[in-house]
Amino acid sequence: MTINPNLAQDVWKDIGEHVQFTVLELKRENPETDREAIAEFADRSQAIIRSLRIRDAEAGLKVAIGFSNKAWDYLFPNAPKPKELETYQEIKNDKYIMPSTKGDLFFHIRASNEAVVYEAQTQFMKFLEDITEVVDETKGFRYFEGRAIIGFIDGTEAPAIEDSADYALVGDEDPDYINGSYAFAQKWQHNMKFWENLKTEEQEKAVGREKFSDLELEDEDKYHNAHNVSSKLEIDGVEQKIIRMNVPFSNPANGITGTYFMGYARHWTITKMMLEQMMETSDFLLSFSDILTGQLFFIPSRTTLEKIADQEL
Ligand code: HEM
Repeated sequence: MTINPNLAQDVWKDIGEHVQFTVLELKRENPETDREAIAEFADRSQAIIRSLRIRDAEAGLKVAIGFSNKAWDYLFPNAPKPKELETYQEIKNDKYIMPSTKGDLFFHIRASNEAVVYEAQTQFMKFLEDITEVVDETKGFRYFEGRAIIGFIDGTEAPAIEDSADYALVGDEDPDYINGSYAFAQKWQHNMKFWENLKTEEQEKAVGREKFSDLELEDEDKYHNAHNVSSKLEIDGVEQKIIRMNVPFSNPANGITGTYFMGYARHWTITKMMLEQMMETSDFLLSFSDILTGQLFFIPSRTTLEKIADQEL
């Protein structure tokens, strides 16, 4: 069995222009009706996506729907568990913390037309509103030239689109859940005043790249905790990669601005090691950011979603 990206949800491409991240928690009032509602939702969600792709064929709607470890245990107690699915536990050092926050269901919806994003989440909620509560709802957007909100091009060292499926999708190592993916969602709020008060050269040392040209700095010109030093993970000399789909979010009048970090991976352990390394080395980004949420979700393949719809999982 080899991976088949056509059977995967939209985890390996397209960051999108208008983006919605939603985390829901199951009220857990009645396990049986919850399981029935989720089966119905698994079925209807795919029809909703197909319909919206017809209604606005140009918008490029992409959707990933996931389940946390706690949701998996509750909804599919008799099914084998995706091998690396666990509840994300906070990561911290003496100065910084990447908290673990609650959540059962996760949605990552993006399109070039915000109306399509709105309609998708609105229609999904018709099947979920009675059994869930909203934990977090964040709207992200594509910033100029695909830059992170801190002004640097984001994604240069992420895998190219043609290589992405191999880095994003579960393979033969877990045949039950082949073509699934491990999604780590983490909402960061930045102290933009602090960042904007740094000189461009200081920002460049902090990220490890030139701001305008995006060229990488020589190692000796970077801060020891530059982001591209702290996050760059090598195992036995081999660089490890994940699919990153970060986007900025903001309530500008309220001075609330940040980055919604979105990482998809074939192996959750790789993303986790990156996070741990960022914490161990006190990544510069941590020094002007508060991390508000963090949880791991498994994004089942569309084949698995069909099994969920048929209550065969
Ligand atoms: C949320 C705030 C974050 C921002 C604004 C941000 C932004 C960036 C930027 C601008 C780059 C340089 C260009 C590139 O290669 O993509 C980068 C690189 C990278 N980031 Fe982040 N990032 C954030 C969080 C994270 C987190 C939480 C992780 C890990 C789980 C991560 C992993 C990486 C990796 C692996 C690289 C490539 C390093 C290299 O090999 O050069 N980033 N990020």
